[in-house]
Amino acid sequence: MKKLIVANWKSNPPTLAQAIRLAKASDFKNVIIAPPHVYLDSLSKILKNASLGAQNTFSKDGGPYTGEVSPRQIKSLKAEYVILGHSERRKYLAETDEIVNEKVKLAIKKGLKVVLCVGENWSTRRKGIATAKEFVANQLNKDLIQTKNLKLKTKNLLIAYEPVWAIGTGKADTPKNAAEMMGFIKDYLNSKLEIRNSKLLYGGSVTPENAEAFLAQPEIDGALIGSSSLIPQQFKTIIKIRDSL
Ligand code: PGA
Repeated sequence: MKKLIVANWKSNPPTLAQAIRLAKASDFKNVIIAPPHVYLDSLSKILKNASLGAQNTFSKDGGPYTGEVSPRQIKSLKAEYVILGHSERRKYLAETDEIVNEKVKLAIKKGLKVVLCVGENWSTRRKGIATAKEFVANQLNKDLIQTKNLKLKTKNLLIAYEPVWAIGTGKADTPKNAAEMMGFIKDYLNSKLEIRNSKLLYGGSVTPENAEAFLAQPEIDGALIGSSSLIPQQFKTIIKIRDSL
C-alpha cells in the first residue's frame, strides 16, 4: 500500500489560473490536494488521479453563519476529505479543542474523511518527548470526545502529527522522534479511544531532502506537506521518492 501524501496549499496560490496549473502538476495517485475552498469546484473538474480535500469546514451544516462553509457544501464540490484542527487555525483563528471536536463530529457524520492535526509547540517539546506525548494525548482526547458512536473506521479518520515548531520553519522533527510519537498515537487511539487503524501522517517541513527518511518509517503512513507542495518540482520529487519505497 502506497503511503499517502496530503498537499496543504494553505492560502495559496493567489489566482485560480495558478491553482489550476499547480493542480495539473500535482495530480498523482494516493495524493490528496487541499486547496482554498474557492478553488475546489474548478479543481474537481480537472483532477484525474488525486483526491480533493478542504482545509476547513464549519461546525454547523448551513444556516445563518456568515462566511462559513458547511460540510455538505464541501461534499457537493466533490471534496472527499477535510483537514481540521490545523495549528495555524488554532493559533490565528482561536480554534479551541471544543470547536475542533464539533467540526470533526459533524464532518464525519456528513460523510467527509477527516485529517485531524495535532502537535505540540516548542515550549512543550523542550521539556522532553514525554511531555509532548502527554500534550498530544490530551489534544486527541478532547478533539475526539464523543466520537465513539460515529463508528470511526480506518478510512474516515486520519491523524496528522505536526509539531507546531516544525511547520513552515525548515526545522523538521527527526524521523526517529516522529516515528516514536506515531507509535504512541497509535497505541493511545487504540487503547483509550477504541479507534483502530487510522492512518498516521507526519507534517512539518517535509522536503525532497528528508521525505525518504520519514516515509521509510513503518509507523508513518504518509505526510502532510505545506511549502513543498507549492513548488511542482519539489512535490514531484517527493512523489517519486514515495513511489520508490
Ligand atoms: P510545511 O507545512 O510543510 O510548510 O511545514 C505543513 C503543514 O502546515 O501542514
